[in-house]
Amino acid sequence: MSNVIVVGAQWGDEGKGKVVDILTEDAAMVVRFQGGNNAGHTLVVGGLKYALHLVPSGILHPGKMGLIAGGVVIDPDVLIQEIETLRARGVEVSPRNLLIGEKAHIIMPYHQALDQAREGQKGDGRIGTTGRGIGPAYEDKASRIGLRMCDLADLNFFREKAAAAMAEKNCLLSSLYGLRPVSLEEIMARAGLWAEKLKPFIGDAWAVLRAALERGDNILFEGAQGVQLDLDHGIYPFVTSSNPIAGAAATGAGVAFRDIDGVLALVKAYSTRVGSGPMPTELTDGTGEFMRKQGAEFGTTTGRPRRCGWLDAVVVRNSVALCGADHLAVTKLDVLSGLKELKIAVHYLLDGEKIDFIPADYRAVERCRPVYETLPGWEGDISGARKLDELPKAARNYLDRMYELCGAPPALVSVGPDRDQTIILHEYF
Ligand code: IMP
Repeated sequence: MSNVIVVGAQWGDEGKGKVVDILTEDAAMVVRFQGGNNAGHTLVVGGLKYALHLVPSGILHPGKMGLIAGGVVIDPDVLIQEIETLRARGVEVSPRNLLIGEKAHIIMPYHQALDQAREGQKGDGRIGTTGRGIGPAYEDKASRIGLRMCDLADLNFFREKAAAAMAEKNCLLSSLYGLRPVSLEEIMARAGLWAEKLKPFIGDAWAVLRAALERGDNILFEGAQGVQLDLDHGIYPFVTSSNPIAGAAATGAGVAFRDIDGVLALVKAYSTRVGSGPMPTELTDGTGEFMRKQGAEFGTTTGRPRRCGWLDAVVVRNSVALCGADHLAVTKLDVLSGLKELKIAVHYLLDGEKIDFIPADYRAVERCRPVYETLPGWEGDISGARKLDELPKAARNYLDRMYELCGAPPALVSVGPDRDQTIILHEYF
């Protein structure tokens, strides 16, 4: 296989960083195609921990090209900081291995201010966004008043566009939310810095991707967030503002469906979610706490504790079907070690009726009661396993059941945070 899309099959935080990092070994290019710095990938390489938000995880491999395609929204301050942190740790980041798509939209300071102001006003109805300005940036893109990375090439034009877009934002910030308006001069001072630091990296990402496709290079498309946060297919309105489904690689990066050879869906061995919204298998008891502690389930971007719960096969089946996933990559199996028994939601009861889909109305999802299948757990440390038969029988049973219930076989099982704590069952490249 040469061109593969990796997506999160739950609510994000499935451990994509590590899996993408492993697959990058055999890829020439890694492409981010949606989302922004709401994403956070934690990687442990050679005992060092890296938290990446915008730079494709493949950057840690010398000689690979990381491409941030036009479908991504970029906070330039975050990107500059990420580049500088990586460089300070001795990782090469140069135009040779990082390309920023000129069509990618910029997250402006007024986007963050609006995101935070709106969430602050919503009280119990808040979505629990990351507060990074993602939604307002995508709104401006759709309203055709967004600023893009290519606009940094001409700061006079940038000023005109920013001034036009800001007029409405400042009105909202001051009149509706009682906040300080954003200053154009402050924005322009920052834009000067963004241009200086980022211009060498900005270019025609689509043309570079196209050339790589024509050469037959192996390309990895790295999804952010998870399918259940998809703007169109997730549990609206508790979703993000982009499309984390595999199909979004086509729009976000400009790749044709026929160029895609495989889709790998990442599934954590249990469920987690940050932010608000229904989560049918959530556990608010000691078992949920056990998962949070064992799995270090705190957001990479916001540090918020993640909500934890049993694996939800209704959710994963839905994601596998939406993305046409060929395989699962099962992550964090080791976190479940020590639990006497494990549960998997096989379907829901909605007002007493058996259903195996996720209703469109979030209030109906809140009324869904999961119907569980119970499986035996296992004891002991499994992080040393490198082959399936080195796992306890109960862990293998759990994986088999995941395969049957979720509709795709595992290609990879992760049993610890390090790159080598992995059981590989199917080679993608
Ligand atoms: P936004 O993307 O910041 O607008 O937040 C919308 C919802 O998506 C909130 O529930 C966030 O917690 C969630 N979210 C956004 N990005 C991620 C991610 O990378 N992992 C997990 N949840 C995310």
